[in-house]
Amino acid sequence: MSVLIDGIGTLVTNDPEIGTGRLGIIEDAALVLGDGVVQWAGRSREVPQGAGTERFDAAGRAVLPGFVDSHGHLAFAGERGGEFAARMSGCTYSAGGIRTTVAATRSATDAELSATIARLTREALRSGTTTIECKSGYGLTIEDERRCLELAAAHTDEVTFLGGHVVAPEYGDRPTAYVELVCGAMLDACAPHARWIDVFCDRGAFDGDQTREILRAGVAAGLIPRLHANQLEHGPGAQIAVEFGAASADHLTHLTGADVDALAAGKTVATLLPAAEFSTRATYPDARRLIEAGVTVALAADCNPGSSYTTSMPFCIALAVRDMRMTPEEAVWSATAGGARALRRSDIGHLGAGAAADVILLDAPSHIHLSYRPGVPLVAAVWRRGELVWSRLP
Ligand code: NIG
Ligand code: FE
Repeated sequence: MSVLIDGIGTLVTNDPEIGTGRLGIIEDAALVLGDGVVQWAGRSREVPQGAGTERFDAAGRAVLPGFVDSHGHLAFAGERGGEFAARMSGCTYSAGGIRTTVAATRSATDAELSATIARLTREALRSGTTTIECKSGYGLTIEDERRCLELAAAHTDEVTFLGGHVVAPEYGDRPTAYVELVCGAMLDACAPHARWIDVFCDRGAFDGDQTREILRAGVAAGLIPRLHANQLEHGPGAQIAVEFGAASADHLTHLTGADVDALAAGKTVATLLPAAEFSTRATYPDARRLIEAGVTVALAADCNPGSSYTTSMPFCIALAVRDMRMTPEEAVWSATAGGARALRRSDIGHLGAGAAADVILLDAPSHIHLSYRPGVPLVAAVWRRGELVWSRLP
């Protein structure tokens, strides 16, 4: 079976070779999906004869690549709404809140954790996310980290071992022993279930030396580094990410000129998580400074029960445009192609021939409406690998 999506008002391909500008925009467009990939993309009037065993009329709406959310903490139990309310009354976010979720996660059954991952993945899909990364980090024992990764792997290919989220509560006064555990028996149990290694390098979590030790062990076990860096205060994280050739450094709220220079000289993607600044009422990262320095910028939702309990990439795009001064074009690119780069994936985040057929239809004439109409559920249909997996259209 193949599908011809016809009557597209604005098609974002992210392929400048087949459309206009960085977003590779084609107006009055059509798309042919088959065998899980894009078979053809171009002007409606040039559709190859006989293309598509089924036809879908987009009726002038916009079509984009599915969002690639490269940063999520979906394997958890419980919620921390009270902590959010306290923050909105003036309390400050701290990494220590993670331990509340650790206690709830340890007490949860596999079925409960799996149901939460499924619920959030489905929720993300309905707002257009077709690829989502999922970290461990709320188990912090060998067995709880291992099972969180195994459960996450049933829902996504992008699984990250984050035993280095915070020091486990029972190791409170023995951080060195905890780092040894993460680098030893915990990593041995977890590495077979993950693609990535991540560390929260920040105040209240891990310092530069501990971060390097964990990343080194992860790399030796075959995992690829990515890093939580410079969220709560300035620290060595951004530069460590570049030093390790990490796929991505995430948050980057507090950067010096030297950090920006290091990111610009390296290959590490800067992944900004504006929903975390929104939910912790913190200063937004300086996206313009990174973009103007030539750094590749991605946007991700950072869904977690503490600092950013949202799965909505359209919300992140709206924040990035309104509060981080990214243009609508930059924000859409960063939420699709940028996320794909942060996950080192060349098959997703664009819609040229041969790309994965992960496609979203907006109930709007262009991608600009994602930030122009904030809070409105504009994603009207989602195809994953060429299958229509969600639609709110009658
Ligand atoms: O990315 N920064 C570290 N980890 C999460 C927050 C986790 C939590 O508060 O539960 C984040 O924001
Ligand atoms: Fe995070």
